[in-house]
Amino acid sequence: MNSTTINSNKVQSKKIDSNKMKAIISTGYGGPEILQLQIVDKPIPKEDEVLVKIHAAAITTAGTMMRTGYPIIGRLFLGLTKPKNPIPGTSFSGVVEKIGKDVADFDIGDKVFGESLEIFGTHAEYVCIKENGIITQMPENVSFEEVGAVGDGPMTSWNFLQELTQLQAGQSILINGASGSLGTAAVQIAKHLGAIVTGVCSTQNIELVKSLGADYVIDYKKEDFTQNGITYDIIYDTVGKSSFSRCKNSLTEKGEYLSPVLGMKLLLQVMRTSIFGKKKAKFSATGALPLTKTKSFLKEIKSLYKTGKLKTVIDIRYDLKDVAEAHRYIDKGHKKGNVVISL
Ligand SMILES: NC(=O)c1ccc[n+]([C@@H]2O[C@H](COP(=O)([O-])OP(=O)(O)OC[C@H]3O[C@@H](n4cnc5c(N)ncnc54)[C@H](OP(=O)(O)O)[C@@H]3O)[C@@H](O)[C@H]2O)c1
Repeated sequence: MNSTTINSNKVQSKKIDSNKMKAIISTGYGGPEILQLQIVDKPIPKEDEVLVKIHAAAITTAGTMMRTGYPIIGRLFLGLTKPKNPIPGTSFSGVVEKIGKDVADFDIGDKVFGESLEIFGTHAEYVCIKENGIITQMPENVSFEEVGAVGDGPMTSWNFLQELTQLQAGQSILINGASGSLGTAAVQIAKHLGAIVTGVCSTQNIELVKSLGADYVIDYKKEDFTQNGITYDIIYDTVGKSSFSRCKNSLTEKGEYLSPVLGMKLLLQVMRTSIFGKKKAKFSATGALPLTKTKSFLKEIKSLYKTGKLKTVIDIRYDLKDVAEAHRYIDKGHKKGNVVISL
């Protein structure tokens, strides 16, 4: 990829050739300063791809972890010394600007959203997505920003609640980190599936979590949910702040502990409980699932947006040039719902 690095403010205002675009480039692994706004070649769609002019894209906590290159095992997939896909970002929404000659299901002008899991690349003005990838037309009742954040929260929490644990109506679930991206989506998805939902968040987010439909809310600043004697069929710790061992007494006899934050301890517990004991610890890497699965998640989530059962909580909107600043904000660990780039 040919690229030119220019001072962010200058790039933002600079008029560029029609075969070029502005994009964030990860120049290595490290702090937010490694993210630079550059002018690069605009991607050209292959025969089976659509070129999407991006209107919104999510900046995620998972993305900030990828920026650092830790845990180091992730570099086996991301690139050993620097990211092999230099433009970060997976979740996107936008408008189809060009289509490859074999594309049948999309037209120029379609409003679309989805995830670019293979090559990332959504923190840019344009991205090419395979027609049979994780992409679909937007429902009419939602904005670009709302569906532009589909990636981490809705897709992951749908995977954990519907696929990994198959949450049933009437089951009780505790969602730790209910005010985050995965958490705000999880509360709504769990209610949609008919569960009795307890959200755990801090004092400042109690009203938010209630407004998403939680039946009960625990303020983690005032109460430790592992010590109050209440048990749940499922504990979904979206932020990985607890552990299976700490939560074991808060699970019902065949209860399940789910966490999307993988560490060595969780991995060993997942392996051990898959063989021994009635209570289980479970993990899944949503982005590594087969395409047929993730496409089916997108279809279900689209229908939730369409019927108004899923609303996106947006904390802050940033310009493309301010992605590094957004990372600094997310690194503090207190975002509410989602942070998006609005183009
Ligand atoms: N396995 C997968 O497929 C997968 C996919 C996507 C993401 N992930 C991972 O999932 C994790 C969560 O991502 P996210 O975007 O949902 O996180 P997030 O939005 O950044 O989480 C921030 C929220 O967590 C809350 N929080 C902080 N400390 C807490 C505590 N001790 N107890 C309860 N809540 C607390 C904060 O509330 P306060 O401000 O009130 O503290 C804040 O609202 C990340 O580690 C990400 O890498 C995994």
